[in-house]
Amino acid sequence: MNMVEIIQKKKEGKPLNREEIRWFITGYVAGEIPDYQVSALLMAICFQGLTKEETVELTEAMRYSGDTIDLSSIEGIKVDKHSTGGVGDKTTLVVAPLAAACGLPIAKMSGRGLGFTGGTVDKMESIPGFRIAMEPEEFLNQVNEVGMAVIGQTAHITPADKKLYALRDVTATVDHFGLIASSIMSKKLAAGSDAIVLDVKCGDGAFMEKMEDAVTLAEIMTEIGNAAGRRTVAVITEMGQPLGRAVGNSLEVVEAIDTLKGKGPVDITQLSEKLAGMMIYLGGKAKSPEEGCRMAEEALKDGRGLKKFREFVKAQGGNPSVIDDASLFPAATVKNQLLAEQDGYINRLEAKGIGLASQHTGAGRATKEEEIDLAAGIYLHKKVGDPVKVGEVLADFFGNDEARVEAAMKEAKEAFVIGCEPVAPPELIKQIIGL
Ligand code: URA
Repeated sequence: MNMVEIIQKKKEGKPLNREEIRWFITGYVAGEIPDYQVSALLMAICFQGLTKEETVELTEAMRYSGDTIDLSSIEGIKVDKHSTGGVGDKTTLVVAPLAAACGLPIAKMSGRGLGFTGGTVDKMESIPGFRIAMEPEEFLNQVNEVGMAVIGQTAHITPADKKLYALRDVTATVDHFGLIASSIMSKKLAAGSDAIVLDVKCGDGAFMEKMEDAVTLAEIMTEIGNAAGRRTVAVITEMGQPLGRAVGNSLEVVEAIDTLKGKGPVDITQLSEKLAGMMIYLGGKAKSPEEGCRMAEEALKDGRGLKKFREFVKAQGGNPSVIDDASLFPAATVKNQLLAEQDGYINRLEAKGIGLASQHTGAGRATKEEEIDLAAGIYLHKKVGDPVKVGEVLADFFGNDEARVEAAMKEAKEAFVIGCEPVAPPELIKQIIGL
C-alpha cells in the first residue's frame, strides 16, 4: 500500500477501506509514515468527510493501536461515563460514587484538562496524597473491593489517538465530527466497559456550540459504540454557562463533596442524578432511567454516595479528612472579588470566557506539559437569571500570582452580560439520543 495513493483517494472524495485505514494507523504509530503525509490526509478528511463505515473502521484501528483494558474479572455490567468537555464539569466526582453506591461497579479511566476545559484527573490530584496511577491488578481489585476506582490514561492505551490528536491540534483539523467521534470512542472502547453514557456538551463553552452539531456528534458516537457491541446513550446537556459555581480544581472537588452532602448547586445535583440514573439503568440495576435516577437521588439523600466517595479517596491514598475540612485542600494566597457595576439581571454568563479566565488564574494549562495551580480558579456568586445590584459580588478569584488573577478578572468581566429584564436559566438536559 502507498500513502500517496491513500491521500489522493480521500482528496477525490472516495471512501477508504478497512485495510487502508488499518495500514495507515499501524504505519503512523510505528513511525513509518511521516507527520506531513498524515497531515495531508487529515485535511482531506476535513474537506471530504468520512462515511459511517470509515468512522467505525478508524475508531477500531485506533482502539487496537495499543493496550486495551480487560474488565472481565469485575463482576456485573460495567458502565462508563464520558463528558465531551466543559467548564465547571465535576459531575464524574458525584456520578461515580452515586452509581457505585447503587451497586454498579465503576472502573473509570479519566483524562487531564487542556485549554479552558477541565479534567477529572487534575481535580482528583488536588486531594492531598491521592494517587491516579495504578497497576492494572490493583485497579481491578479496588473495583471489586470498594466498588469504584479512577485511573489516569496510560501511555500504552490508544497511542494512535495520542499522536493524531497532537497533530490535529497544530494542523487545524480538530473540529471534524468523524475525527472527534473516533478519537473519543477509541479511548472509551479500549477502556473496556460494557455500556457507555456520553454527556455531549452544547454551548459556547463546548466543542459543539450549536444544537444541530451536538446532535450530529452524539449520533455518530452512539452509532460507533453500538456497532462495537457496547450499549451507548448520549445525553446532550447545556454548556452555555459553567456548570455549578466552582471552576478550578480544588474548588470543584469541594463543590462535588458539598453536592454529595446534599448542599450542592441545583444544576450539578440534577445532572449528576440523571447521568447516574442512566448508568444504573444501562447496568441493569433499574428498570428505567427514571427509576435509576430515583435510586441515585436516594443514595445522595441518605449519605451512601458520600460514604462511597470517602472509601474511594482512602483506597487511592488520598486524605479523607478533606471531606470534613475544606481547609486541607491546597490554599490560594491571592483572593480578589469582581463586583457588579450595574443593577439588573444576569442575562448571559459565557462559559468559554469564564473557562479562559479560570485557565489564566493558573487553574488550566495551555499545553500538555504546563504545571497547573490546584488552588486557583473562580467561584461564581451570580449565574444566569439571578438579580444583581451595583457593588454585589459577581465572583471570587483565587490564585497564587497577583498579575494572573488580575488578568483573569478583566477577562471574566466580559463574560457577565447584565440586562434590565429577567431571563429564565437555560434547560439543563436538551436531548437524549440512543435510548
Ligand atoms: N476529546 C477527545 O478526546 N478527542 C477529540 O478529538 C476531541 C475531544
